[in-house]
Amino acid sequence: MTRVLVTGGTGVLGQRIAQQLRARHATVVTLSRRAPAAPTPGLEWVPGDLITGAGLDEALCGVQAVVHAATSQRAREDVQMTQRLLDAAVRAKVEHLLYVSIVGIDHLSYFDYYAAKLEGERRVAASGVPYSVQRATQFHDFVAYLLGRMNRFPVLTLPRRIRLQPVDPDAVAARIAYATLNGVAGRLPDLAGPEAQSLETLAHAWLRAMGQRKRTWSVPMPLPIFRAMAVGDLAPAHAVRIGPSWEAWLAATVAGPGRAAADGAFP
Ligand SMILES: NC(=O)c1ccc[n+]([C@@H]2O[C@H](COP(=O)([O-])OP(=O)(O)OC[C@H]3O[C@@H](n4cnc5c(N)ncnc54)[C@H](OP(=O)(O)O)[C@@H]3O)[C@@H](O)[C@H]2O)c1
Repeated sequence: MTRVLVTGGTGVLGQRIAQQLRARHATVVTLSRRAPAAPTPGLEWVPGDLITGAGLDEALCGVQAVVHAATSQRAREDVQMTQRLLDAAVRAKVEHLLYVSIVGIDHLSYFDYYAAKLEGERRVAASGVPYSVQRATQFHDFVAYLLGRMNRFPVLTLPRRIRLQPVDPDAVAARIAYATLNGVAGRLPDLAGPEAQSLETLAHAWLRAMGQRKRTWSVPMPLPIFRAMAVGDLAPAHAVRIGPSWEAWLAATVAGPGRAAADGAFP
């Protein structure tokens, strides 16, 4: 049975990847600083810190494959964490490391988080560890979080000219679990949700799902993240389209009792 380490096993994506790997009969160990909210049968957790390297050698003991789904919004930390993991993976002779990245981050170096993700990809490729890189578009959860943060005034104020193709993290996790166990592939095809939409359209659907009758107002917002989102190719025509739409996800997650179905047809 393949033993897999998932870094960031308490994160939005990492916890889903760990479950998907378990469903595929892998032995799964996760590493994060905080313990998972509840112990999950069949999942081992090692407390660790990718900045200091604490717990890392223990977590990598006997591991054949690693999924790096831990991240820090502090760009410099994010690169440090990746490098620390790569150094340990070389020592542990890991056979396959899958790095999770973001669609459309090329040429956007003024937004330091995207620059860090690109540098992470570069370091993974140069590390000598056999690797795969899986890029995905913004998760539905992340778009909902962003809209929630912006929804502070009587009118929902949005950054202008942003077009996104958000994707369900359950569907991304299913693909990543499959790719991890399927072997080294280099850069995998980019993953996106089924539909590219303007942020205004996404916001209107979100407001409807939340039962709010607000108007939206789109204005220039010169923050690097919004500039990067406006000029980056975050809704690529070439991406593989997976998972439920934004509207279906909202109906199941925000407005409804259950979860939208993930990409269930995927092996
Ligand atoms: N969110 C999106 O829309 C999106 C879209 C495409 C790709 N991605 C990529 O997908 C990956 C996962 O993103 P996510 O949204 O799931 O992240 P997240 O929810 O913020 O989770 C981050 C994880 O990293 C762990 N972590 C942070 N600092 C750590 C440290 N020093 N040592 C060990 N663990 C640490 C956290 O656990 P502790 O805090 O407990 O340590 C947590 O489990 C990232 O590479 C991201 O760039 C995200």
